[in-house]
Amino acid sequence: MTIKSISQVRNLKGQRVLLRADFNVPLTKNGQVGNSEDFRIVRTAPTIKYLTGKGAKVIIMAHLGRPEGKVNPKLSLKPVAKRLSQVIKQSVKLSPEIIGSKTDKLVSQMKNGEVLLLENIRFDAREEKADKGFAKQLAKLADIYVNDGFAVSHRDQASVSTIQQFLPSYAGLLLEAEIKYLGGALKNPKKPLVVIIGGAKISTKMKVIKNFTKVAKRILLGGALANTVLKVMGLSVGKSAIEPEMFAEVKKFKLTDNQIVVPVDGLMAIKTEAKKGRTDALADVRKDELILDIGPDTVKLYESILKSAKMVMWNGPMGLIENPAFAGGTKKLIKILAESKAQTIVGGGETVQMIRKMKLENKFSFISTGGGAMLEFLEGKKLPGLKKIVK
Ligand code: ADP
Ligand code: 3PG
Ligand code: MG
Repeated sequence: MTIKSISQVRNLKGQRVLLRADFNVPLTKNGQVGNSEDFRIVRTAPTIKYLTGKGAKVIIMAHLGRPEGKVNPKLSLKPVAKRLSQVIKQSVKLSPEIIGSKTDKLVSQMKNGEVLLLENIRFDAREEKADKGFAKQLAKLADIYVNDGFAVSHRDQASVSTIQQFLPSYAGLLLEAEIKYLGGALKNPKKPLVVIIGGAKISTKMKVIKNFTKVAKRILLGGALANTVLKVMGLSVGKSAIEPEMFAEVKKFKLTDNQIVVPVDGLMAIKTEAKKGRTDALADVRKDELILDIGPDTVKLYESILKSAKMVMWNGPMGLIENPAFAGGTKKLIKILAESKAQTIVGGGETVQMIRKMKLENKFSFISTGGGAMLEFLEGKKLPGLKKIVK
């Protein structure tokens, strides 16, 4: 695997660089970027600093939410520009439009090392249509294109993929790191590799699990998605949501050879809002109960398996972490991995948020910024945003 990296480009001084970033972050009720929500902005900062440090003029394209091709002031990048400027400790101008005379003027006024952010790229319907004419117009703004938006690289869209036909294209530093770590786990893992998959639905992660059965020593399941597997194994999961349409796929797994490991106990409650769970073996879940977290014996079992790992790849929480009563299993795994000597790679919106809340992000080898993109990459798909950059 070779990556066309921005670090290979000589003489960036005075060059206009069109940078695609993923600044798709949740906003607070008063429309600001929340303190613990600026992860994607923080992680793109080194690429921006690298470029400005070399004297490039950095023009950034990004999206926020899904405005569906229409201008929506609630999804303006204003709060993003503000936070970005705080993070990179430098002024960031926001163009009120994507392309047009105002943007042209702002670009022509840029000095070396300055940063300009274009308004939400999805305000133009041509973005999500991967429109060639639109991509061409965007390309006219710059000399080279850099994709640093790993988290949006699974989208075939004008500023992500189409534009690469019209400008020399490179990976930013974040994108490069994402590919090295995630690609490394998939293609050339340190062995033994242990994979942990949790979260809501097995249907969204089935292909990832399957792909890792080829390289992982163990795959530890948790979260609501384990319920479908437990059901197939003949256990009662009470009222927990399951996906019967996935039974046939799950049955194809060799569930007896210990590669795929399921929880042995859990925290159960009648309601998701419960203040406390009842700990019991998963053989004894009651009819009216929901399984809402993994139990202490499962934590012990997973801890003992993780001890022998040289590499750990984790995506998705072990329980309903939005309710603190059911966040315990996930928190314990975070602590175990934070202390582990293995190379630890983790991703998935909710899990990462919890790691950041616990201020343990520096204890992991790599934290992915990708949600859907991480999963599609780990499925082994060629992402549209990487086609011309990764060979
Ligand atoms: P990620 O975003 O980390 O990849 P997902 O989006 O697949 O993960 O799933 C995260 C969601 O799964 C969280 O909102 C969490 O509350 C939910 N979840 C995990 N385990 C359970 C469970 N046992 N019961 C209900 N919801 C759960
Ligand atoms: C994400 O947040 O996962 C990316 O920014 C992609 O957003 P999308 O799912 O709206 O395309
Ligand atoms: Mg999620």
